[in-house]
Amino acid sequence: MTKSYLVETFGCQMNVHESEKISGSLSNLGYIPVQRREDADIIVFNTCCIRDTAEKKIYGNIGDLKNYKKLKKDLIVAIVGCMSQQAGAIETLKSQFPFIDIILGTTNAHLVGEKVNEIINSRDKRKLKYYENVEPNNDIAENDVTLRTSYPNGWVNIMYGCNNHCTYCIVPYVRGPEKSRAPQLIMDETQNLLKDGYKEITFLGQNVNSYSSEGWNFAKLLDTVAKLPYRFRLRFLTSHPRDLSDEILDVIAKNEKICKSIHLPVQAGSDDVLAKMNRHYTRNYYLSLVEKIREKLPTCVLTTDVMVGFPGETDENFEETINLIQRVKFSNAFTFVYSPRTGTVASRMVQISPQVKKDRITRLISVQNEIVKDISQTSLNKTYEVLVEGVNQKGLLYGRAENGRLITFPGDTNLVGEFIDVKIDKCRVSSLGGHIENRDA
Ligand code: SAH
Ligand code: SF4
Ligand code: F3S
Repeated sequence: MTKSYLVETFGCQMNVHESEKISGSLSNLGYIPVQRREDADIIVFNTCCIRDTAEKKIYGNIGDLKNYKKLKKDLIVAIVGCMSQQAGAIETLKSQFPFIDIILGTTNAHLVGEKVNEIINSRDKRKLKYYENVEPNNDIAENDVTLRTSYPNGWVNIMYGCNNHCTYCIVPYVRGPEKSRAPQLIMDETQNLLKDGYKEITFLGQNVNSYSSEGWNFAKLLDTVAKLPYRFRLRFLTSHPRDLSDEILDVIAKNEKICKSIHLPVQAGSDDVLAKMNRHYTRNYYLSLVEKIREKLPTCVLTTDVMVGFPGETDENFEETINLIQRVKFSNAFTFVYSPRTGTVASRMVQISPQVKKDRITRLISVQNEIVKDISQTSLNKTYEVLVEGVNQKGLLYGRAENGRLITFPGDTNLVGEFIDVKIDKCRVSSLGGHIENRDA
């Protein structure tokens, strides 16, 4: 009988895209995707360890799988991705959850299908187990199959790993050093997506601005892809402020297909903290970069990541972060409480009390929410071109404007994948509501 599988994603956009590759490795071997744990014969968790909260949530979820395993003794459980890539993680997972059948890391996660096959075809299923998190610095796997679930958005990796070693961050440890994919491979993948009718391409990498392969830099890659003769939008994630060059900004400015929307993580607003984070820029550098972006790209929307409670962050340092947030007025900010990650430099610094962190994050969120509310108000009665992405639980269509704002509106489901003009009539904190603009009116 055909076996079914479920891949659950716990991490960032890159993790989401890797789940598409993991699903591809299973579908390619004939396994069928399902939506609920109770229907699955194979459950894969694609994990994240960026913060303590992410890890705790995953541990809780793995614990829950024990019950599913009791009900279905042949259930295969696979834990893959960043969490299993940490030093000592395999041993911890094995001893705490002996029922796990497969543990793979980040670079070899796409081998899940193969390993599942071997277990299912073995005579003594319960004895066969795979635990391997290979060093995340070997060659980039290129022959994997991707089962895309995000039409009309196509995610394309342009690089893997990270060389930056921000002192709080686990990513370089679990993903290894930066490796850029060959431009031709990126072009081919993008072109195939566009031929298949995808309308939005998002380039993924921890620091896309430092892309470098075969003499191509990020500006050249963007410029070349933006000239492909299809109707589409081009986005990218994530930019490191240090590496966002004038050349890149000029390419964004002159290509209509490149969205005027940049995610530019600031992390902190004080020079002391930025230096301790090893971010390689100052508050003034960041603020003048923002000014330059707004000059060169007047319609550009800026979003950010910002953290409170980094070791040694004083009240004054925190106020500088608040002040920066108020000055820049990001359209959206992902706000985080710093959490120490084993093995990173910052985890060995003197830590801040949980209460102080809590107070600071509460304040930061409320300041940012006010900013978003004000910005949202300015959208009222404006018309945006929306790429329709799908239908939500309330039966409304949803999609994004070029600036990245989520917009919901009533309409026919056959509009998914189309560009539609929508006039905004409702403002909420996380999304806008509207109606299709009648072009004949
Ligand atoms: N490569 C991207 C994002 C990496 S992780 C970049 O450099 O911008 C996404 C965000 O998680 C980071 O921008 C940072 O704000 C946050 N983050 C990373 N490590 C963290 C930690 N130890 N505690 C809290 N937040 C963290
Ligand atoms: Fe982590 Fe810094 Fe690399 Fe981003 S740039 S992944 S925050 S080390
Ligand atoms: Fe992404 Fe989490 Fe890994 S943020 S890179 S899945 S640690």
